[in-house]
Amino acid sequence: MKEAIEQILGELNNLKASTQKEVEEARIRFLGKKGEITALMEEFRTVAPELKREYGQKLNELKKAAAAKIEELKEVAEQAAEAAAPKEDLSMPGDAIPLGSRHPVSIVRQQIVDIFRKFGYDVAEGPEIEDDYHVFEALNFPPNHPAREMQDTFFVSTGHANPLLLRTHTSSVQVRTMEKEKLPIRVVCPGRVFRNEAISARAHCIFHQVEGLYIDKDVTFADLKQAILLFAREMFGAETEIRMRPSYFPFTEPSAEVDVSCNICKGKGCNICKGTGWLEIMGCGMVDPNVLKASGIDPEQYSGFAFGMGVERIAMLKWQVNDLRHYFENDMRFLSEFATATEV
Ligand code: DAH
Repeated sequence: MKEAIEQILGELNNLKASTQKEVEEARIRFLGKKGEITALMEEFRTVAPELKREYGQKLNELKKAAAAKIEELKEVAEQAAEAAAPKEDLSMPGDAIPLGSRHPVSIVRQQIVDIFRKFGYDVAEGPEIEDDYHVFEALNFPPNHPAREMQDTFFVSTGHANPLLLRTHTSSVQVRTMEKEKLPIRVVCPGRVFRNEAISARAHCIFHQVEGLYIDKDVTFADLKQAILLFAREMFGAETEIRMRPSYFPFTEPSAEVDVSCNICKGKGCNICKGTGWLEIMGCGMVDPNVLKASGIDPEQYSGFAFGMGVERIAMLKWQVNDLRHYFENDMRFLSEFATATEV
């Protein structure tokens, strides 16, 4: 028994247990019901009476030493487990992350495009950095037209015959489409445009347009009028009326400006329509034969109409926003009003 006690003491001294599980295993091995020290206690009963005192004392010391060693290891293992545990309380409810929403200009641009898609139009896009030919020349702008001048156009490169510039309208995509697509053509061209304008409640140097183009045999002004009327009713409501006022654009002849009946006062006159009962929404007209010719289309065989509108302008009218700048400032209080606006 003496040797057994010595041996266990030696083992206890060298005992290593780094995890709580290992400590518990060691406790069971020495002090558990079937543990080594417990077994010695059992054996103690059979020890000769004259040795009982000595062995009893030794056994008690062994038991105490084992309990102390296990306790010490347990504390170290607990501290290690605590240090390794994540500091965060993973059961805590998370902070809600506010959901973003589409920008009102994107919403309206998509609505415009969707309406024309329903009418069978395709969508075409073109470069924002364009050349003079596609923005002006092929669209029948005379060489000295004021729109080419510095106060309107942001030039990227000058000093040669076909300077690069930031497109001032998406009508340039008309030209690119006529150059590469087969006839008949029916497209809408949404995109960003740039003009050297002072920023105000009604103008910005960057804004968005949707251009439309339809070219086929026997396309007439009546087709144009019907397409615009259907669009206006889809966009502003079934009771909407349109009127066309004669106008001028280099790329259309005849040209018109389109007004819709004011959807706020129903034509009676209010401060949004400035008492007229009408709101201007776009320019349009029959594609000028010179424009068709420039892109290799025979104006004797084909005719077409085109139209162009400002997306911010449509959005302002739809939502009665009175300052264009709201659309560019990214004020969350403004943008969040459109979080659920898919229809108005
Ligand atoms: N490009 C014109 C502008 O930026 C808008 C426009 C007017 C486009 C008449 C057209 C059109 O296609 O026929 O102001």
